Amino acid sequence: MPDAFALADTLAKHGQTHLLEHAKTLDGDARAAFCARLAAIDWAELQHPSELPVASAAAKSRVLDQAERTRRAAELTARGEAAFTAGAVAVLMVAGGQGTRLGSSAPKGCYTIAPHSGKSIYQLQAEKVLSLSRRVGRAVPFLVMTSPATDAETRQFFAAHSDFGLAAGQARFFSQGTVPSIALDGKALLAAPGKLLENPDGHGGCHTALVDSGNLARLSKEGVRQIVYIQVDNILAPVDDALLVGLAEAEKADVVSKVLEKAHPDEKLGHLVKVAGRDRIVEYTELTPEQTRLRHPDGEVIYRWGSPAMHCWSVAFLDRLHQRGYKLPLHRSKKPLKAWPAETTGWKNERFIFDLVPEADVSVGVVIERGDEFAPVKNKDGDDSAVTAVQIASAQYVGWLRAAGVRVELPANARVEISPLFAATREQFLARWDKRVAAVTGDYYLEA
Ligand code: UTP
Repeated sequence: MPDAFALADTLAKHGQTHLLEHAKTLDGDARAAFCARLAAIDWAELQHPSELPVASAAAKSRVLDQAERTRRAAELTARGEAAFTAGAVAVLMVAGGQGTRLGSSAPKGCYTIAPHSGKSIYQLQAEKVLSLSRRVGRAVPFLVMTSPATDAETRQFFAAHSDFGLAAGQARFFSQGTVPSIALDGKALLAAPGKLLENPDGHGGCHTALVDSGNLARLSKEGVRQIVYIQVDNILAPVDDALLVGLAEAEKADVVSKVLEKAHPDEKLGHLVKVAGRDRIVEYTELTPEQTRLRHPDGEVIYRWGSPAMHCWSVAFLDRLHQRGYKLPLHRSKKPLKAWPAETTGWKNERFIFDLVPEADVSVGVVIERGDEFAPVKNKDGDDSAVTAVQIASAQYVGWLRAAGVRVELPANARVEISPLFAATREQFLARWDKRVAAVTGDYYLEA
């Protein structure tokens, strides 16, 4: 039971005494549970969500462009391979989001996406890890961050599918925390009597959750140095990326961030730039349309490099941040909230993983081909929907087939699907392709 006087003081200091009034209406256990949750919340940080300064004077970050990537590919890939085979790499997939825009109540990973096999997003992601594990001859740890909104269903879904063929215990589930959503006047809201309205604390919640769940310490103990970070809703996010890992190792980077050439100035992405001497990812929401068009004196667009939210994090870096008590700031965004007794508009608070980037002493960017690695599923229809993600993935597989000398002529609605278990990368595909067909002129599916 928390100290009632201390709790009352804290709540009064932060304008939340209405919660104590509500507590009085509850009985016994319900009141105790409610007060325990109130006492665990950092009310001060909720009152002062971070307002980051607009990055008007941004400089160039160090980014491996296509030319340097090509030039160093052999060296970096060899380094990455060595790390994979030594067991120094884990994969982290964040899957705690509520997927509000997609409009399904189930976790986004349960969404059936593959056009011919009917595989779910979770299956595609897990099979990439399985394919990598088979290739390198060891069970690469697969950390799956859930949230109270997705945890039970995610675990059940994996269990019901025998973890999609992964080794027992290879998928390590852990749940992120939550933070209260608050009304526009700053007061915390209820989801139901005796229950605060809370949301998962953002993909940035994975730092604290890795620590609190014991997973970061376990990775360190196991000799894992690099974490390949992907988000569940990018169905093409590679996990078998030796060049990425090799770059992190070669540069002794705290973080390597993948970047892509933006499609147009107003594309809704974060941007990798250097501000006050440190790399940072500046969200599109922090910039005006004029700022996104600014150029360096040499003519290069300042906000040139978009961030598709794929990184390689050093375990030692994440641990250092933990040791010095670092906590990611909260950002707030105005959202419709399912509050009780009435729905309302208020602030949803979240931590963003990319806020770790300015904490890195060594941060490097590496350019990727968008069509090869980025097919996000965010919306029900239109841009960044399941339909567009499947189109992008199909176009990638068409590229692989053509590179292998197959004639491909697809009607507009036809889709190609290649299982990650047949090939998870272009190189694997080309190495494995057995010329089983000379032409593809309609729907085509390749499993094994
Ligand atoms: P988004 O920010 O796109 O959010 O998450 P979302 O929850 O998937 O979808 P909307 O905004 O409600 O429509 C990007 C990635 O970060 C993860 C998501 O699961 C997704 O992989 N995420 C997001 C978390 O793991 N936890 C969170 O609290 C938020």
